[in-house]
Amino acid sequence: MKFNHKLLMTAFGIGMFSFPGLHAADGVEVNHLGTNNTLVRVKGEGKYLILPIQETFEDDAKINVLVDGKLEETIYARLAKTKTDYTVPYDISKYAGKNLVLDIVTPQGRNSVRDAADDVCWEGMIISDTFDTTNTETKYRPAYHHTPLYGWMNDPNGMFYKDGVWHLYYQKNPYGSKWQNMTWGHSTSTDLINWEHLPDAIKPDGLGAIFSGSAVVDHNNTAGYGEDAVIALFTSAGTSQMQSFAHSNDDGLTFEVYPGNPIITLDTEARDPNMFWNEKTGEWNLILAHALEKEMLIFTSPDLKNWTLQSAFGKNLGAQEGVWECPDLFELQIPGTDKTKWVLISNINPGGPFGGSAVQYFIGDFDGKTFVSDTNPDGTVPTKWLDYGKDNYALVSWSNAPDNRRTTVGWMSNWQYAADVPTMQFRSANTLPRDLQLFTSPEGELYVASVPSPELDKLRGKVIDKASDKNIGNHVSNYKLPADGICEIDLTFEATNADVVTFTLSNNKGEKVVMKYDAKNRTMSFDRRESGIVDFNQKFPAITVSPTFENSGKVNLRVFVDRSSIELFGNNGQFVMTNLVFPNEPYTTLSMESKNGDARLQDLKVYEVKL
Ligand code: FRU
Repeated sequence: MKFNHKLLMTAFGIGMFSFPGLHAADGVEVNHLGTNNTLVRVKGEGKYLILPIQETFEDDAKINVLVDGKLEETIYARLAKTKTDYTVPYDISKYAGKNLVLDIVTPQGRNSVRDAADDVCWEGMIISDTFDTTNTETKYRPAYHHTPLYGWMNDPNGMFYKDGVWHLYYQKNPYGSKWQNMTWGHSTSTDLINWEHLPDAIKPDGLGAIFSGSAVVDHNNTAGYGEDAVIALFTSAGTSQMQSFAHSNDDGLTFEVYPGNPIITLDTEARDPNMFWNEKTGEWNLILAHALEKEMLIFTSPDLKNWTLQSAFGKNLGAQEGVWECPDLFELQIPGTDKTKWVLISNINPGGPFGGSAVQYFIGDFDGKTFVSDTNPDGTVPTKWLDYGKDNYALVSWSNAPDNRRTTVGWMSNWQYAADVPTMQFRSANTLPRDLQLFTSPEGELYVASVPSPELDKLRGKVIDKASDKNIGNHVSNYKLPADGICEIDLTFEATNADVVTFTLSNNKGEKVVMKYDAKNRTMSFDRRESGIVDFNQKFPAITVSPTFENSGKVNLRVFVDRSSIELFGNNGQFVMTNLVFPNEPYTTLSMESKNGDARLQDLKVYEVKL
């Protein structure tokens, strides 16, 4: 006979009787109210309530957090049903001495014959003063890339530099390793390599989740929150998307969200505000992705709160297959001249050159109100890509960076499979930092190079293997990589016109990544089809191909290998491929071979990475 929990509760009152499914453990009392509704009363005190998570269930439980009877917040988590994959901490320390109740609606799938009472999560909901963030995924967690301590990460957000510190905020799910509960996580670094994890900076509120945005240092106190206050703009994503304002007077550690939010509303989807001070016009600019219209909106403001729409750029231009997101707009010098050009970044998803997410850019002029793209001789606007791999998305730059640098990072994944990659404790890393610079191709066209940031030079440790002035024959020659596979390979070669030079990274299991330079076509390709675990998503195995933007046949490659990523920078970042890989064992061999046997290796060094 089915038990009618609701009726019983009305008849006897909660807690008077010990119903099946009601128990108290470690200061947590669980009352099942029906097939899909459970109350968790937190009676004990401590820092965290531990939430057990099971990833394989598609649906989140909806958790209304009630403090002294008032709705404090709503969070979503895949509470464990049949087994716990991992746990996440819910911070309860600030509610000490108050009545804390979690009113939880669990998804009982259509095929499920389970009641909430049958789920395993309740037993694991305990109070703890600690949460163990020890890295449990040493196999794939990068050694020298930024990753969240645990949980999901996507876009980098709100990056600013101040007083020697690089601030990196990011789209974070604090309650699981899939996209949800968008919050601004926060990390800082003084060298762009070692990152310190700080408390979450901005959390969802009544207007919705906290989507991507930017932050600036308000040197002239234009917004009225003090000289050098940090101002953040982000997208509030509730039923619709609006732009919101927050300020920080403690260098970005905590933010106070403006009570008058939102500050920009439109009647269509728009997101990811990116603002900057325009020296020439003496006012602020803002570029906002008009996502579904596939264009960027440009605003001006004197005070960072009141924005005037000036123009739109991009309608029917460039890649138009996916939505336009995460814009950026900045000025770069044309090397060897005193002239500058403006670069407009438009991350798009899907519709990248190899499917899914990618970074598109336009080069042109900007007068403070309107961006005009350079054109091809026939008047069309060229589509340019910053990275010819599959795993660099949502790339934007740091504001207020020193020495006029345009330093960037991207999210090292692709929406096609980001939630399926074979990690669990954490999901996703950032790319290595890259400084953007203009360069001119042999055909006389301007492009943007992603130069590995100079900080990366400090990673170079012991030379594990090397060679110089040597033919790359038409038979395979092998070089050693470190046993843990983590390294930087720096090599320069010269190829004759008909040559194809192959560089292969492989392990003892026969898993390999094959990179080929094709001298005739001036391309470099990257094949990860047999790189290790590739079957978690059919969009993952792939060959990506980049033009090399040279006509000399002389190429320098810097290849940064970490535990689950390879970033290949050609000719000081003039061509770049960022690709994830999940080898079952580290790659320990670099092999080289040239088709005609007359390519020449000028120099090779394999560096251990020094941390
Ligand atoms: C890009 C994006 C942004 C949005 C954020 C939400 O990856 O879709 O447009 O603000 O992710 O997490």
